Parts: sequence; structure tokens; C-alpha cells
Amino acid sequence: MDWYSTIDFAMIKTPNKPLSRFSVAPMMDWTDRHCRFFHRLLNPEIVLYTEMVTTGALLNGDPERFLRYNTTEHPVILQLGGSDPEELAQAARYAEKYGYDGINLNCGCPSERVQKGAFGACLMAEPDLVAQCITRMRDSTSLPVSIKCRIGIDESDSYEFLEDFVTKTHAAGCDTYIVHARKAWLKGLSPKENREIPPLDYPRVYRLKEEHPDLSIHLNGGICTLEDMTTPLNMCDGVMIGREAYHNPWFLRRLAEQFTPATAPHHSRAEIVIQMMDYAAREYREFDTPLHSITRHMMGLYHGMHGARAWRQHLSNVSRHAQNNPLFVLDFLNSECMLTE
Ligand SMILES: Cc1cc2nc3c(=O)[nH]c(=O)nc-3n(C[C@H](O)[C@H](O)[C@H](O)COP(=O)(O)O)c2cc1C
Repeated sequence: MDWYSTIDFAMIKTPNKPLSRFSVAPMMDWTDRHCRFFHRLLNPEIVLYTEMVTTGALLNGDPERFLRYNTTEHPVILQLGGSDPEELAQAARYAEKYGYDGINLNCGCPSERVQKGAFGACLMAEPDLVAQCITRMRDSTSLPVSIKCRIGIDESDSYEFLEDFVTKTHAAGCDTYIVHARKAWLKGLSPKENREIPPLDYPRVYRLKEEHPDLSIHLNGGICTLEDMTTPLNMCDGVMIGREAYHNPWFLRRLAEQFTPATAPHHSRAEIVIQMMDYAAREYREFDTPLHSITRHMMGLYHGMHGARAWRQHLSNVSRHAQNNPLFVLDFLNSECMLTE
């Protein structure tokens, strides 16, 4: 019996349905299952990604800790970090067992820690190895496997470099690419700087789609408004939103109203807070989850509105958080700071 078969998996698999053209980016320390639960309340269709989970952590640690999620999160994709084809194959089987809707291989993260493990963005220099990883993952599961990458790394910063990477990995069976439209410097810039300093180059991503219409190409990087996505949606198959979704989560709701009005939710922000606190109470009962692990993702809920600051201050109250009583968060809704919507 395989080692992973000994685990009792009780997750429900969703029926396959075409994935939305919109997704929320994988973001380490941000898009954990609590954050994804929150985002799902705001937008029922958008594709959610986990934080990157390394094969080392998954295969040598407690898989339940890394893979547990709420069934409401579907469609949800597991992002893997790794470069060993066999380990990735095992991790992919885990993803299938847990009922994830797809697997994404991280070929875009430039952090030094990740480079030490020889994965992330530095894998763009090793398309043959990535191709082997894709082959093994595809052989091991029936889940769709996609790649998230940059448009280039270091001096390898040309359309031809990107196209060579895509062509070789496509030949191994990958047909969906989420392209962060800026290159990464592997030395000298922090991950944060690598999300800000190299300039965005959307036309390179558009060209990739134009010359490879059979591929599914999703553009990522710098999308902050509905207007920002007009051209990318015309030129590509979809868009992935990162920081804006986190700092201004109501943006996800506006997306739902604009693009999927039939299923867009109608809850007010206050009702979302109530649902989240109901979730927090369940989480505390079942898993001892500290309240703060949940409320920290909700700081931006009133972004741009009168009283947003008072809300953030309310959520920053450390001593009240220590009691893990969600009622304190609800107090805000009755307070004189209660925000008109
Ligand atoms: C805090 C943070 C953590 C991130 N962690 C990951 C990660 O685990 N995997 C990944 O592929 N990208 C990661 N990214 C990059 C985002 O997925 C995205 O590519 C980047 O933020 C650009 O999109 P944006 O301009 O819409 O934010 C992270 C970004 C941030 C801000």
C-alpha cells in the first residue's frame, strides 16, 4: 500500500466545470484557507490558489496541515514548489486525493530560500527539467497541471526565452500558463522588489497568446481596476489578481457583479463580517484556530470607505483578540463607527 493511501481523505470532489477567466494569485502567508474562505464569500466563481506548498514540507511534514481546506473554496488549485519529478508526482497524487481542482507549478518565485531549494523562478532556466516534472505529475494524476512563471529571468529577458520555456513544457503536457508579466532578478532584489521594480511588459504575454492560440494564457501583474483588465481579457484567456484582491477584497465582489451577475452575492459588508465570525467560531471549536488568523485577512474589507481606519484599528486590538471571542468583532457593527454602505 502506498504511504499516502493510509490517510483517511474525506474531502468532496467538485464536478468538473470550466474554470472562470479570473483567479486570485497564490500568495505566501496571505492566501491560506481562511483567506480563501473569505474571498469565496465575495466571489462565488473566481478560481482560488493556495499559497505555495513545497514538496519537502508536504512529503516530510503533516500533509493535513498544508492541504486542509473548506469545500466552499472550490474551484481551488494547489500550488506546488519543487523540482524533483518524483516528489512532485507524489505531491500531485496528494492533491488529487484531497480533491483539489488542479495543480500549479511555481516557476516564478525569486526568493533566495526558494532558489536554495532549486525551484521557483530559477526553473525557467531549466525547461527540460520542468518538462520532466510536468510529465511525472501528469502521469500521476488526472488533474490539470499548469505553470506560473515570469516573462524572463536575469539577462534571459526576451520573447524567445519565454517561448522556448513554454514550448518545451507544453510538449510535456502543460497547456495553461499564468504569466507574471515582469521578469525576475534572481540576485540583488528582494521578492517584494521583484514584484515592483522590473517593468511590466504585457505585450510579450499577448504575443505568446497570439503565436500559440492553442495554449491557455493568463496574465498576471499590476491589475488593480476593472479597466486594467479590459485589454488583457481581450488578448488572453484570463487574468490573475494578486495584491489588489488582498488589500481591497471588495474588488472581488465588484468583479462578480460585473462579469457573473447571475451568481454574484448580495450580502452587505456587515453580513460578510457576520458570516466570517460564524466561521471563526467553528474554526476555534474544531481546530483551536486563533481569531486573529482569520481577522487579519479582513483588514481591507472597508478599503476606501469612511471608517475604514476605525475598522482596521478595531481589528488590531491584540488583547481582545487574545480571548478568541468573535463577538468582539461584531461589536464594531453596532458601534458608532458603524459604516454606512
Ligand atoms: C505576499 C505575497 C506572497 C506571494 N507568494 C507567492 C507564492 O507563494 N507563489 C507564487 O507563485 N507567487 C506568489 N506571489 C506573487 C503573486 O502571486 C503575483 O504573481 C504578484 O503579486 C503579481 O501580481 P499582482 O501585481 O496582481 O499582485 C506572492 C505575492 C505576494 C504579495
